[in-house]
Amino acid sequence: MGGTGNTAAAWAALRGKPHATLAELFAADPARHEALTRRIAWPVEPGSSVEAGMRIDFSKTHLSDEALTAFEALAEVAGFAAAREKLFGGGIVNPTEGRAATHGALRGSGTPAAVEEAEALLARMGMLVEAIHEGALGEVRHCIAIGIGGSALGPALAIDALTRDLALVDVHVVSNIDGLALEQAFRACDPETTLIAVASKTFTTIETMTNAASALKWLADNGVEDPGGRVVALTAAPDKAVEWGVDETRILPFPESVGGRYSLFSSIGFPIALAIGMDEFRQMLAGAKAVDDHFRATEGRANAPLLAAFADQYYTRLRGCQTRAVFAYDERLALLPDYLQQLEMESNGKSVTAEGKPVDGPTAPITWGGVGTDAQHAVFQLLHQGTHLIPVDFIASIAPGDDLDPAHHRILLMNCLAQGAALMAGKTSDDPARAYVGDRPSTTFLLDDCDAAALGALIAFHEQRTFANAVLMGINPFDQFGVELGKAIAKQIESGEGDFDPSTKALMAAAGLG
Ligand code: F6P
Repeated sequence: MGGTGNTAAAWAALRGKPHATLAELFAADPARHEALTRRIAWPVEPGSSVEAGMRIDFSKTHLSDEALTAFEALAEVAGFAAAREKLFGGGIVNPTEGRAATHGALRGSGTPAAVEEAEALLARMGMLVEAIHEGALGEVRHCIAIGIGGSALGPALAIDALTRDLALVDVHVVSNIDGLALEQAFRACDPETTLIAVASKTFTTIETMTNAASALKWLADNGVEDPGGRVVALTAAPDKAVEWGVDETRILPFPESVGGRYSLFSSIGFPIALAIGMDEFRQMLAGAKAVDDHFRATEGRANAPLLAAFADQYYTRLRGCQTRAVFAYDERLALLPDYLQQLEMESNGKSVTAEGKPVDGPTAPITWGGVGTDAQHAVFQLLHQGTHLIPVDFIASIAPGDDLDPAHHRILLMNCLAQGAALMAGKTSDDPARAYVGDRPSTTFLLDDCDAAALGALIAFHEQRTFANAVLMGINPFDQFGVELGKAIAKQIESGEGDFDPSTKALMAAAGLG
């Protein structure tokens, strides 16, 4: 990953630059929003010449022309173009695990061999989805989709976003080992017509396997004759699924080179396809592919995900921002911040470079967020008047998702745009408690519509933004060893064999463990 040249000198050049305020930047160039708005588009349906898309306005960030030139120089010495070709070309971009990262191939962006393999797996998933819709497994009205992390957050987001009007199958995504989560799904489903989808790249994750066993028991306890016949496995370890008892005809594999948090478009997306149908699922892929094409073919600041990464690096490394916030002004994207948290924090929350050396600055900021307008009445006070500088992303759809009085959507959009304007402009007052310092940055994403293709595009945009950030920082975004130690200690607590600290020992005794 990255790091072909002297990035230290490029960072030093960036650190030496003065910071103009947003007001100064707009005063110097009132058409700044034109120069700093990007649009990515895709056909509204396969083969159509009519396009839909999203526009992204970066002009309310502090990126000056000079800073952008310096970031472009950084991208060059960090080897961005070569790293990007390595990513799409199936090279080893995950050196600690000796793996390529082939999630792009799932939507047609990769080597011919990887794309061909992905298409074959997608066709197989499509056949099973359509067979289930046609009743091959009996009546299927509900699906309990069991998985965690990357095997749950993407499906949960997409199903919540895309089934507001209609779900072909009523899907409940269950991730937590806390039995309350599974019990809630049981209450909403009829065992006779429920399918269990077990999603796990490794097929060993304790939460998922425990939940899957309990779901099977629930089917059996409720008189379902062949509970095992109602299970579909989504995994990169098909042998483990066979061992666990899943019939090979109901195992949908995906390649090992697709990372968990990048696996939404693989067979991990089976519950999405079950809920929205294969045509819509393919539209998600088409939106993602449009972003890949833009990301591959566009250089420097014209490249929207790279430009987003320049802004991320500017705030994290040059302005000391420890968090970045995402507010979707759309109920359908309520789960987007959760999804982005894993994508960005599990990928780029690292302390060493891809070569194993200490990093030379802070890495991923903390991603957090919520839904507008709700968040305005809860956390925006701090954004406007608190002591933290927090870059904000606003995401909204021009087309409404509801059928109510258009006033609803108009007020929603008005509020979204007002927040970006208010954060930037601020307001003076003789009363310090009523003054707003302003000069607070935001980026606005305006989707033509919040449909399957737009969701696919948004997700791919953030995957590529995360990758671009990793290259600029010289880190490997595709491993996640930081999650292992806690898992190992949980096992020690279970077995009681371990050298625990006094605090943990006392807590174990109090909780009746060990
Ligand atoms: O513990 C972290 C993690 O490995 C994530 O990276 C992954 O998405 C999640 O657990 C679930 O893993 P699996 O899909 O193998 O069950």
